Amino acid sequence: MRKPIVAGNWKMNNTMEKSIRLVNDLIPLIKNQNKVDRVIIPPFTALATVSDLLRFTSISCGAQNLFWEPKGAYTGEISAYMIEDLADYVIIGHSERRTYFNETDETVNKKIVAALNVGLTPIMCVGETYEENQAGKTGEVILHQMNKGLADIPIVNGAKFVVAYEPVWAIGTGLAATGEVANKVIADYIREPLSHLFGEEVAQRIRVLYGGSVNAANAAEFFEQPEIDGALVGGASLKSHDFADIVNAAASAKK
Ligand code: PGA
Repeated sequence: MRKPIVAGNWKMNNTMEKSIRLVNDLIPLIKNQNKVDRVIIPPFTALATVSDLLRFTSISCGAQNLFWEPKGAYTGEISAYMIEDLADYVIIGHSERRTYFNETDETVNKKIVAALNVGLTPIMCVGETYEENQAGKTGEVILHQMNKGLADIPIVNGAKFVVAYEPVWAIGTGLAATGEVANKVIADYIREPLSHLFGEEVAQRIRVLYGGSVNAANAAEFFEQPEIDGALVGGASLKSHDFADIVNAAASAKK
């Protein structure tokens, strides 16, 4: 059985003061829910502080991005080495980064390698746009993202990363996929290529999340699905009780 993960991506939200308040609200609500790996992913400005506040809890911290070079003259960038003490997870290739910052499957691949090299667990995001979905290209797009993003990843690290299926049309729109549709996309275009790339045994251990307008009301529908091992949550992770409800739904899902 794969242990579920619920990760809250705060995106570009929350000042330091708000971050501290939110994490302090969250800790008592989710600290004992050990059936679920809980991850809080604040903006970089609050990463050290949030990480410190989570230090003596079983809740993990994550970063929203990294740059693949270890150090040097890359103004404004942050390397895996700068994050490794502060976080356990790092989001790679979120669709907002692909759309607004020109990230490609090749840069996603470099970032995954950089994360794995320092022991960070990448959460690699894949997903199709609305136009691609309507044109019947969901499978083609995701298979491409999977095969390029994970090309030449050493097999020893094969089970160490997480994949998030995030249909771009579902992110921040309030229009989530259905559990059934997301489950089928994951089975056919994520679990299947994982098995080709790393073998069936490793593919069965890798956790695959759904993300895109997950909220307290719809979360359980995803967690019931056999291929869905948790959620990457945006908007609802900014409200402590909603996020806690999603964590609890993951803990009580019967597969
Ligand atoms: P959302 O964001 O839950 O606000 O749709 C999800 C994500 O971008 O990971």
